[in-house]
Amino acid sequence: MSQSLGPMSGREQPSRDSVAGMDRLSALNHPLASNLVTLLRDTTTAPPQFETAIHEVTRCLLWKATQEEPVDNIDVSTFSGSSLSGTRFSRRIAAFVILRAGLSMAPPVRTLIPEAPIYQVGIKRDESILEPQLYYSNLPTSFTNIDHLMILDPMLATGGSARMALQLVRTVFTGDVSFLGLIGAPLGVATLLETDPNLRVYLASLDERLDSNGYIVPGLGDAGDRVFGTN
Ligand code: PRP
Ligand code: URA
Repeated sequence: MSQSLGPMSGREQPSRDSVAGMDRLSALNHPLASNLVTLLRDTTTAPPQFETAIHEVTRCLLWKATQEEPVDNIDVSTFSGSSLSGTRFSRRIAAFVILRAGLSMAPPVRTLIPEAPIYQVGIKRDESILEPQLYYSNLPTSFTNIDHLMILDPMLATGGSARMALQLVRTVFTGDVSFLGLIGAPLGVATLLETDPNLRVYLASLDERLDSNGYIVPGLGDAGDRVFGTN
């Protein structure tokens, strides 16, 4: 498909500047995150290193997205023999990963929030029209004991896939929802924030725009293909 005749040609996109200051959007602003995103953008980075970099960036996103989580005090026995009052999250957190690329963001959830259940939704974007197609979901019919649900997907391009995941979540869950992604386009961020007045979006990088085929610029290419070595 030629670049100028792609499915995004003629579609309006908000500017990066108009989206960057939006409430409820946070981007990682740290040299380590920038170094890792550079590795992800580099076309010579091989799948294993690419996936490892995703794990590290996701860890940073999880730290940021849980910064305001309330904690309970718990007593633990310490090495010195005395008891110490420590903390653990008061609320229950769950993850909802968008297959396929979102699978690469699940391992850090396991490590940092081991008690969090990890649900999956399979959504594939039809590249010819940039519309999401749902092919799998294992969301329960109702959520009990979950207070904060995190949707995970490396890429937020038009926002169609994330919006579909969010709409599914909202049929069964009224609590706090966050979206954690590596790279977002202004259109995807604006679309997602407009869909839900309480949603928070955490990104490693807010990029410039979508090209005429709906790929993020500068972006990193097709995230799923780069994680799994397919194309
Ligand atoms: C990619 C990405 C998002 C979606 C973003 O997945 O992981 O899910 O595209 O695009 P959008 O914001 O315009 O909807 P893709 O559909 O390529 O599926 P994959 O993860 O199986 O490769
Ligand atoms: N999906 C991707 O994997 N990359 C993009 O740039 C856009 C959608």
